[in-house]
Amino acid sequence: MADLSTGPTPGDFAIGDTDFLLNGEPFRVLAGAIHYFRVHPDHWADRIHKARLMGLNTIETYVAWNAHSPTRGGFDTTGQLDLARFLDLIAAEGMYAIVRPGPFICAEWDNGGLPGWLFTDPAVGVRRNEPLYMAAVAEYFDQLLPIVASRQIDRGGPVILVQIENEYGAYGDDKSYLQALVELNRAGGITVPLTTIDQPTDQMLADGSLPELHKTGSFGSRATERLATLRRHQPTGPLMCAEFWNGWFDHWGAHHHTTSAEESARELDDLLATGASVSLYMFTGGTNFGFTNGANDKGVFQPTVTSYDYDAPLSESGEVTAKYLAFRDVLAKYAPVTGELPAPPAPAPTFTVALNESVSIWDALPELGDLSEVPVAELPSMDALGQYTGFALYRSRLAPDSRVLSFGEVRDRAQVFVDGAAVGVLQRDHHDRTIGLPAGECLDLLVEDQGRVNYGPRIGEDKGLIGPATLDGAALTGWQVLPLDVDGFVAAGSALFDAHPLRRGAVGTEGSSLSGPAFARGRFDAEPGVDLFLSTAGWGKGQAWINGFNLGRFWDRGPQTTLYVPGPVLRASNELVILCLHGTESTLASFTARPDLGHTDF
Ligand code: GLA
Repeated sequence: MADLSTGPTPGDFAIGDTDFLLNGEPFRVLAGAIHYFRVHPDHWADRIHKARLMGLNTIETYVAWNAHSPTRGGFDTTGQLDLARFLDLIAAEGMYAIVRPGPFICAEWDNGGLPGWLFTDPAVGVRRNEPLYMAAVAEYFDQLLPIVASRQIDRGGPVILVQIENEYGAYGDDKSYLQALVELNRAGGITVPLTTIDQPTDQMLADGSLPELHKTGSFGSRATERLATLRRHQPTGPLMCAEFWNGWFDHWGAHHHTTSAEESARELDDLLATGASVSLYMFTGGTNFGFTNGANDKGVFQPTVTSYDYDAPLSESGEVTAKYLAFRDVLAKYAPVTGELPAPPAPAPTFTVALNESVSIWDALPELGDLSEVPVAELPSMDALGQYTGFALYRSRLAPDSRVLSFGEVRDRAQVFVDGAAVGVLQRDHHDRTIGLPAGECLDLLVEDQGRVNYGPRIGEDKGLIGPATLDGAALTGWQVLPLDVDGFVAAGSALFDAHPLRRGAVGTEGSSLSGPAFARGRFDAEPGVDLFLSTAGWGKGQAWINGFNLGRFWDRGPQTTLYVPGPVLRASNELVILCLHGTESTLASFTARPDLGHTDF
């Protein structure tokens, strides 16, 4: 139950003829997005507090269904997924909340929030009123909505609005689906007004909503024009930009997106001058920890990077930026803003760590799973094996004189080995499907799911190696496939590191070279609670963990060359593990004073 002692008092929130009405009085929503699942839970209160200090009165969050339900039937609400606690902290700050439970959320999040298991039955029709899909959505809402419903404003909680779907007009036009979602929300006890959001085009606004839902728009500029379009589709009621895009996200291999603080503040001012309500997307972006990033694919696959800093007013590490100060000045014109400013953080500690222990992925295989237990005649996707994120190893035998290996598609990146020796890489973003092979017997492919598409028709597609697999034009069968539980391996603290410290590339205390794919491990002292930035320069491509917490992916394609380490994951004595997929000239890892999110385009 919500803590009713500190938050807003029980009240009423409604859509009036011209304004939102809070207890019957006009109320302008000044919201900013914080995705609880992208921020360490020990930082939630800090980020919410800083939102209020900037002049916001409301926090908006999506709910990521796949994070809560990695397997069907489960609904994890612990730690970083404790939505109830997040909403209670918003109430404790005296702020209101907007919840956007999807089921589809987009958000540059893996699969747009839809669980991978949803797609294993081809009969399931997602994002439309299809019975199998709606049954799964109903299970999700059964577990989620009690948390939200009990924290609505009419029960003394902070929740004032709940959104139906997300930019549905950009995807479909099944009104009966939207209607079914409304009914599930109402049946689940949601009493606050329900909204939809769409990009302000006539087609999307027409397709993405229902007459009884309050329409809002998503845009980051030209407010007057966009609000006029929205008004054509909604003759009365408050106008709201429910995603004011004040920054943008980054793809691997592209530049780091930034927008000028002055220009963004001017656009915000223009929007607020119309009297409209707003939700900043994002107030603080956070991080795609672990394997949680999404991807885009409009002909070329573009996975989203680990940082979701978004060039938002509050940085990924919770730092006040020039945009924060500029927005605060704008907001002060429209609502009371306290004089208190969050203190700038001290530069992060800088030091290096020698990763003295290593184990190659080949030596680690017995602890990553048992290859021999899953022999399969035909090539299965990772999904078919119940693996919806991360890595899998595919193994087959080569006939003598095999020359050319081909697949239907590689999703998303496969390192190819023959008898343990690296042959090359097949990358989806290069449309690679074919590779020449040297002579040898044992064929291995280490395949990475680089994040599922979160926008458009390619959501939900299978990952892994997609058939047909052919060798010199003839079907290659006799596969063994092993989903790799790398998180479990790191958390278990394998003794193999000690047993084979010098295999496949000697690792010395001064940081000698290491040939991947291999895990490297080292220990370091730190001050618990103090954020760090791990430099990944020189480590090529891979994944990093501290004390078992998966910091996310890194890649020398950039743009980012540091990974954010939230202070709460640190202890006095810490363990750093890096999965180095290709190799590094030095196994010294360094921590830098500032994040480096990479080059910009100007
Ligand atoms: C749209 C979506 C969001 C997000 C932004 C881009 O507005 O609704 O989830 O994907 O685009 O960051």
